[in-house]
Amino acid sequence: MRRARIAVLVSGGGTNLQALLDAQESGALQSGEIVLVLSDRPGAYALTRAAAAGIETAVTPDEAALQRLLEARGIELIVLAGYLHILSAAFVARYPNRILNIHPSLIPSFCGRGCYGLHVHEAALRRGVKVTGATVHFVNEIPDGGEILLQKAVAVQPGDTPETLQKRVMREAEWVILPAATEAVAKRILEEERHEHL
Ligand code: GRF
Repeated sequence: MRRARIAVLVSGGGTNLQALLDAQESGALQSGEIVLVLSDRPGAYALTRAAAAGIETAVTPDEAALQRLLEARGIELIVLAGYLHILSAAFVARYPNRILNIHPSLIPSFCGRGCYGLHVHEAALRRGVKVTGATVHFVNEIPDGGEILLQKAVAVQPGDTPETLQKRVMREAEWVILPAATEAVAKRILEEERHEHL
């Protein structure tokens, strides 16, 4: 069966990439195939995870080189999994409703410029929220501003540090909704293609 060609863009440890790889292995992600993992920095452990899964990897900080590689590999769906480079409006405009991002809060809380990674959980703890979570959304030209696809709530525990909260949000929310959203969008891409050929 044909599967949508997926590229995953990473910058860090790659636990969200690992969740996608595990979903591919288990069949939870079946409408899409991860064919490329690309980082903007060479040291990302996510690249090691990709190589261990036999997936092509590339490293470039340059958006034009990124664009050429995505076109050369016929990429149909881009998943930002801890990717820290802010894509330009011109780049994003080429992939309407084809770029997904995972953000570690319930957007619109704790998002926007400079609010990424641990900073998000520091802000949530500073504000004293009792519930936080994660969001998967389409990427448009506004940071964290695109259509929300999935969200999952996570309780803040007494005594949480940014690190303990980050781990729980990853385990209970991010690693669940990112594979689910990726499968749903990949499935939609295949369905749209079938309708075009009817
Ligand atoms: C996660 O906190 C994710 O929510 C955010 O960046 C971090 C990436 O972690 N987008 P990993 O590289 O997937 O482990």
